[in-house]
Amino acid sequence: MALERTLSIIKPDAVAKNVIGEIYARFEKAGLKVVAAKMKQLSRKEAEGFYAVHRERPFFNALVEFMISGPVMIQALEGEGAIAKNRDLMGATDPKKAAPGTIRADFADSIDANAVHGSDAAETAAVEIAYFFASTEVSAR
Ligand code: PPS
Repeated sequence: MALERTLSIIKPDAVAKNVIGEIYARFEKAGLKVVAAKMKQLSRKEAEGFYAVHRERPFFNALVEFMISGPVMIQALEGEGAIAKNRDLMGATDPKKAAPGTIRADFADSIDANAVHGSDAAETAAVEIAYFFASTEVSAR
Protein backbone atom coordinates (compact mmCIF):
# COMPACT_ATOMS: atom_id res chain seq x y z
CA MET A 1 0.00 0.00 0.00
CA ALA A 2 1.25 3.51 -0.81
CA LEU A 3 2.06 6.20 1.73
CA GLU A 4 -0.67 8.81 1.25
CA ARG A 5 -1.91 12.07 2.70
CA THR A 6 -5.54 13.04 3.13
CA LEU A 7 -7.44 16.11 4.32
CA SER A 8 -9.68 15.65 7.35
CA ILE A 9 -12.05 18.18 8.90
CA ILE A 10 -13.69 17.77 12.29
CA LYS A 11 -16.91 19.70 11.66
CA PRO A 12 -18.62 22.26 13.97
CA ASP A 13 -20.97 19.68 15.53
CA ALA A 14 -18.12 17.42 16.67
CA VAL A 15 -15.98 20.36 17.83
CA ALA A 16 -18.98 21.55 19.90
CA LYS A 17 -19.33 18.06 21.40
CA ASN A 18 -15.70 18.29 22.60
CA VAL A 19 -14.61 15.05 20.89
CA ILE A 20 -11.56 16.28 18.96
CA GLY A 21 -9.27 14.18 21.17
CA GLU A 22 -11.40 11.05 20.79
CA ILE A 23 -11.36 11.42 17.01
CA TYR A 24 -7.58 12.05 16.97
CA ALA A 25 -7.11 8.87 19.06
CA ARG A 26 -8.95 6.90 16.35
CA PHE A 27 -6.67 8.33 13.66
CA GLU A 28 -3.58 7.45 15.69
CA LYS A 29 -4.75 3.93 16.61
CA ALA A 30 -5.35 3.28 12.91
CA GLY A 31 -1.78 4.30 12.09
CA LEU A 32 -2.62 7.75 10.70
CA LYS A 33 -0.20 10.52 11.66
CA VAL A 34 -1.28 14.16 12.00
CA VAL A 35 1.22 16.06 9.77
CA ALA A 36 -0.56 19.46 9.83
CA ALA A 37 -3.39 20.89 11.94
CA LYS A 38 -5.28 24.11 12.59
CA MET A 39 -8.49 25.18 14.27
CA LYS A 40 -10.36 27.73 12.20
CA GLN A 41 -13.63 29.61 11.87
CA LEU A 42 -14.30 29.28 8.14
CA SER A 43 -15.56 32.32 6.26
CA ARG A 44 -18.56 31.88 3.97
CA LYS A 45 -16.23 32.34 0.98
CA GLU A 46 -13.84 29.64 2.22
CA ALA A 47 -16.66 27.15 2.82
CA GLU A 48 -18.28 27.88 -0.55
CA GLY A 49 -14.92 27.46 -2.28
CA PHE A 50 -14.14 24.22 -0.50
CA TYR A 51 -17.51 22.69 -1.46
CA ALA A 52 -17.70 24.32 -4.92
CA VAL A 53 -18.12 20.91 -6.56
CA HIS A 54 -21.46 20.59 -4.73
CA ARG A 55 -22.68 24.12 -5.67
CA GLU A 56 -25.66 22.83 -7.67
CA ARG A 57 -26.79 20.30 -5.05
CA PRO A 58 -29.98 21.09 -3.08
CA PHE A 59 -28.11 20.87 0.22
CA PHE A 60 -25.31 23.30 -0.75
CA ASN A 61 -26.55 26.38 1.15
CA ALA A 62 -27.38 24.37 4.26
CA LEU A 63 -23.95 22.70 4.11
CA VAL A 64 -22.17 26.06 3.91
CA GLU A 65 -24.28 27.51 6.76
CA PHE A 66 -23.46 24.48 8.89
CA MET A 67 -19.72 24.61 8.13
CA ILE A 68 -19.54 28.27 9.21
CA SER A 69 -21.72 27.77 12.30
CA GLY A 70 -18.67 27.30 14.56
CA PRO A 71 -14.97 26.47 14.50
CA VAL A 72 -13.67 23.42 12.66
CA MET A 73 -10.48 21.43 13.27
CA ILE A 74 -8.61 20.81 10.04
CA GLN A 75 -5.81 18.27 9.68
CA ALA A 76 -3.69 16.52 7.08
CA LEU A 77 -3.24 12.84 7.90
CA GLU A 78 -0.46 10.63 6.58
CA GLY A 79 -0.23 6.85 6.46
CA GLU A 80 -0.35 3.73 4.32
CA GLY A 81 -3.60 3.93 2.33
CA ALA A 82 -4.55 7.02 4.37
CA ILE A 83 -7.45 8.11 2.12
CA ALA A 84 -9.41 4.83 2.33
CA LYS A 85 -8.37 4.25 5.93
CA ASN A 86 -9.79 7.62 6.99
CA ARG A 87 -13.01 7.02 5.00
CA ASP A 88 -13.37 3.65 6.78
CA LEU A 89 -12.90 5.31 10.17
CA MET A 90 -15.50 7.98 9.24
CA GLY A 91 -18.28 5.64 8.11
CA ALA A 92 -21.08 6.43 5.63
CA THR A 93 -22.12 10.04 4.91
CA ASP A 94 -25.50 9.40 6.57
CA PRO A 95 -24.83 8.42 10.20
CA LYS A 96 -27.98 6.27 10.18
CA LYS A 97 -26.21 4.08 7.58
CA ALA A 98 -22.73 4.27 9.15
CA ALA A 99 -21.27 1.02 10.50
CA PRO A 100 -21.16 0.66 14.29
CA GLY A 101 -17.93 1.93 15.79
CA THR A 102 -17.29 4.49 13.05
CA ILE A 103 -16.86 8.18 13.86
CA ARG A 104 -20.18 9.14 12.25
CA ALA A 105 -22.08 6.33 13.95
CA ASP A 106 -20.69 7.38 17.32
CA PHE A 107 -20.64 11.19 17.07
CA ALA A 108 -22.87 12.43 14.20
CA ASP A 109 -26.54 13.34 14.53
CA SER A 110 -27.68 13.63 10.90
CA ILE A 111 -26.54 13.68 7.28
CA ASP A 112 -26.43 17.49 7.54
CA ALA A 113 -24.26 17.51 10.67
CA ASN A 114 -22.07 14.47 10.19
CA ALA A 115 -19.00 15.19 12.33
CA VAL A 116 -16.17 14.74 9.83
CA HIS A 117 -15.01 15.27 6.26
CA GLY A 118 -12.37 13.18 4.51
CA SER A 119 -10.91 13.44 1.00
CA ASP A 120 -12.29 10.81 -1.38
CA ALA A 121 -9.33 10.36 -3.79
CA ALA A 122 -5.63 11.20 -4.19
CA GLU A 123 -6.30 14.12 -6.56
CA THR A 124 -8.88 15.73 -4.28
CA ALA A 125 -6.66 15.12 -1.23
CA ALA A 126 -3.82 17.11 -2.79
CA VAL A 127 -6.15 19.98 -3.76
CA GLU A 128 -7.90 20.00 -0.37
CA ILE A 129 -4.65 19.95 1.66
CA ALA A 130 -3.33 22.86 -0.43
CA TYR A 131 -6.65 24.71 0.10
CA PHE A 132 -5.98 24.99 3.83
CA PHE A 133 -2.23 24.54 4.34
CA ALA A 134 0.86 26.20 2.87
CA SER A 135 3.58 23.64 2.09
CA THR A 136 5.61 25.07 5.00
CA GLU A 137 2.76 24.17 7.41
CA VAL A 138 2.89 20.44 6.59
CA SER A 139 5.59 18.26 8.19
CA ALA A 140 8.23 17.06 5.74
CA ARG A 141 8.10 13.33 4.94
S1 PPS B 1 -22.81 12.32 -2.66
O1 PPS B 1 -24.25 12.34 -2.65
O2 PPS B 1 -22.22 10.98 -2.81
O3 PPS B 1 -22.21 13.32 -3.57
O4 PPS B 1 -22.48 12.74 -1.25
P1 PPS B 1 -21.08 12.95 -0.64
O5 PPS B 1 -20.04 13.27 -1.65
O6 PPS B 1 -20.83 11.81 0.27
O7 PPS B 1 -21.41 14.22 0.21
C1 PPS B 1 -21.41 15.51 -0.25
C2 PPS B 1 -21.06 16.45 0.88
O8 PPS B 1 -22.22 17.13 1.30
C3 PPS B 1 -22.52 16.85 2.68
N1 PPS B 1 -23.96 16.88 2.89
C4 PPS B 1 -24.86 16.13 2.31
N2 PPS B 1 -24.71 15.13 1.43
C5 PPS B 1 -25.87 14.53 1.01
N3 PPS B 1 -27.11 14.90 1.44
C6 PPS B 1 -27.27 15.90 2.33
N4 PPS B 1 -28.49 16.26 2.74
C7 PPS B 1 -26.11 16.54 2.80
N5 PPS B 1 -25.90 17.54 3.65
C8 PPS B 1 -24.61 17.73 3.70
C9 PPS B 1 -21.82 15.54 2.93
O9 PPS B 1 -21.56 15.36 4.28
C10 PPS B 1 -20.56 15.74 2.11
O10 PPS B 1 -19.68 16.62 2.78
P2 PPS B 1 -18.27 16.14 3.29
O11 PPS B 1 -17.74 17.30 4.05
O12 PPS B 1 -17.49 15.80 2.06
O13 PPS B 1 -18.52 14.96 4.17
